[in-house]
Order: sequence, then structure tokens, then C-alpha cells
Amino acid sequence: MSRKSASRVRQTALITGSCGLIGSEVSRFFDRKGFRVVGIDNNQRAVFFGPAGDTTWVLGQLHASIPHYTHHHVDIRDRNAILDLVATTQPSVIIHTAAQPSHDRAADIPFDDFEVNALGTLNLLEACRRFCPESPFIHMSTNKVYGDLPNTVALRESEYRYDFDDPAFANGISETFSVDQSKHSLFGASKLASDVMVQEYGRYFGMPTCCLRGGCLTGPNHSGVELHGFLSYLVRCNLEAIQYKVFGYQGKQVRDNIHSADVASLMYELYQHPKQGEVYNLGGGKENSCSILEAFQMVEDITGRKQHYTYVDRPRTGDHICYYSDLTKVRAHFPSWTIRKPLAAIVQEIVSSWQLRLEKGVDAIVNGAEN
Ligand SMILES: NC(=O)c1ccc[n+]([C@@H]2O[C@H](COP(=O)([O-])OP(=O)(O)OC[C@H]3O[C@@H](n4cnc5c(N)ncnc54)[C@H](O)[C@@H]3O)[C@@H](O)[C@H]2O)c1
Repeated sequence: MSRKSASRVRQTALITGSCGLIGSEVSRFFDRKGFRVVGIDNNQRAVFFGPAGDTTWVLGQLHASIPHYTHHHVDIRDRNAILDLVATTQPSVIIHTAAQPSHDRAADIPFDDFEVNALGTLNLLEACRRFCPESPFIHMSTNKVYGDLPNTVALRESEYRYDFDDPAFANGISETFSVDQSKHSLFGASKLASDVMVQEYGRYFGMPTCCLRGGCLTGPNHSGVELHGFLSYLVRCNLEAIQYKVFGYQGKQVRDNIHSADVASLMYELYQHPKQGEVYNLGGGKENSCSILEAFQMVEDITGRKQHYTYVDRPRTGDHICYYSDLTKVRAHFPSWTIRKPLAAIVQEIVSSWQLRLEKGVDAIVNGAEN
């Protein structure tokens, strides 16, 4: 299956979580590609994370930068509202990024977490099956579907980081890794439920659905808080001389980081070449991976400021010691897609963005996530 560019016939992209880190980036990307962008976001992030999670400012930016942006302040848990919206919108692509995105927050709000992540996704899938079954449905999933099983892979410890020490995982964790019999956190479990359901609508109903299992998704619009959005929060701590807390593993735990713009460009490839019930791991890969200690060094080199941190000798429950996405499958299926933002450029952009925001006093911005 292959689709023509949206420029000739104006297509509609329906984007859930349009005011979040990924949703807002994707909204701008699809607008630039000529789509009519319809966003769904009820600012639930402010409910999950308090006033610091308020995304009203992003909504203002979307209205300002996308002339024909249409917004719906709808909760994806509201089944009838979602059915009505999909029926009237008839989207040519659905990009689902709305979620309760925090690994740690889920344990405090298990019903909200499951209802948003699992049930909300089912509402959308079923609405699409009824009203636009041929439109690609792209779901933002997470590497937490693998639970803490990646911690069982043999590791090599060096001065500043861990790496996989098993040749089978030289490129990282692939999509064949087990999602079973490990500790996921409630968040990982609710996301796994939605991930499997998205696959099922592809396999059972033949719909063009796919899941992107994200590593650390980040970028200059990502305003991390403690425990969420580690790279962004770490930069902020550096600039404001706040003590960054390192939770366990001597700060050598490794994450792979991908810029939200590189996520958006892959989603466009998926729109053009849809798959049925596919899953892809999507992070920055080994090349864009770093440990917390390495991130400290990169940020210090840019800002010239020392990173202040305290060490808490207790890892976060279910945290990965080392994780990088094996990108072999996604690269093979989408040879023209590539990661354009190397880690150094990502860190530089995040530093510049925080410098600007802190200078201007724009402080109530939190776009963190589970990593
Ligand atoms: N950021 C990361 O590092 C990361 C890593 C792996 C996976 N992911 C996944 O990517 C997706 C996007 O993450 P993000 O970082 O952009 O998150 P985000 O919190 O920045 O964006 C999510 C948006 O969805 C909205 N939302 C939440 N619940 C809603 C509901 N019930 N109805 C309508 N809108 C609702 C929120 O208000 C928010 O604006 C999520 O599915 C997340 O699990 C993120």
C-alpha cells in the first residue's frame, strides 16, 4: 500500500494528545505536509501532573502556527464523543499520542491510567473501524511493554555507562524481545494492553494499524520534571543549579534519545506506506544513547556550568539499567527514513530552549514522560 502526498487533495490528520510533546510536533509536521490538522486534547496532563503540566501554552502555539488547526477539548475516554468526532472528521490518518505517560504516576492513579491508556485506545480503534477502516492508525507505544526484562541481558560496565555485553543485543533490543513475565509497572501494563489491541485491529480486522515502541522521546519543547523527561530536566537542573537526583546504578543507566521531529517524520512514512498490526522499536538507537553521567558531561561542556547532583542508592522500580532500541527493522521497512538529529544536537537544542524559557520566565511548562 502506498499513498500520495496530501498536497493535491487536502487530507485530514486526526491527532490525539495534540498539545503534548509528540502530538504538537506531529501536528506541525502534518500541517507542513498539507494536511488539515484536527487535534484532540483535554489538557489531562494538568490533571496528571498539576499546574506544571498545563499544556494551554502549546494550544496557543498550535493556533498561532497552524492557520486551520481545529481543536477538540475531548477526553478519549468519552466513547460517544470519540465515535461522533471520528464519524464527522473522517480522518485519512489517525495518530494516537494521548496517554497517561508516566511510569511512576500510574501506581497512584491505576484506574485513570488504565482507562486513558487502554480503554481510550480501544474507543479510538473501534471508532476508526466503523468510520474510516482504511485510514492508517499510528499508535505511540513504549519500551516499557518489555517490562524490566531487558535488565536480564548481560551487561558490560565501564567507567561512565553500561552497555549490552551479549552479541545478540549488540544493536539493542529488537521487537522479538519478550513482553511477558517481567515487571512492567502499571503504566507498562496499560500501555501493553493498548499495544496488543492496536496489533489485533490490524491482524483481526485487517486495518492498517501499527505501534511505535518509544525509547526516550525528547526535544526542545520537552520540559522535564524530576522522574520524567530526564534529559530535559537534567538540563534545567544544570542551568538553575538544582540538585539532580540520580536513582541507583551509579548514574550509569543508559537511555536512547530521539528528537520528536524524527518521530514525526517516521509517522509520515507510516502514513504513506501503512502496515497491518506491525510493531517497531523507536528510540535514538545505540548512537544516540547516553548514561546520566555522560549526559552531565555533555551539558556541562555546552553550558560551562557544573552539574550538581545527589545519589539515591535506590533505583526506580522496574527501571531499565540499559536500554537502546534496535532500529534494524524500522530502517529496513522505511529505507528513506533516517534519524537526522544526533544526540549532541538534541542536547544543544534543549539547552538553548531552556535558556530562552528561563530568561523569559516561562516556567509553567512540563512536557515530561516516563523516561
Ligand atoms: N516522552 C517519552 O519519553 C515517551 C517514551 C515512550 C513512549 N511515549 C509515549 O508517547 C506518547 C506521547 O508522549 P508525550 O511525551 O508526548 O506525552 P505528553 O504528556 O507530552 O502528551 C500527551 C497529551 O495527551 C493529553 N491527554 C492525556 N490524556 C488524555 C485524555 N484522556 N483525553 C485527551 N487528551 C489526553 C495530555 O493532555 C497531553 O497533552 C504517549 O503515548 C507516551 O506513552 C513517550
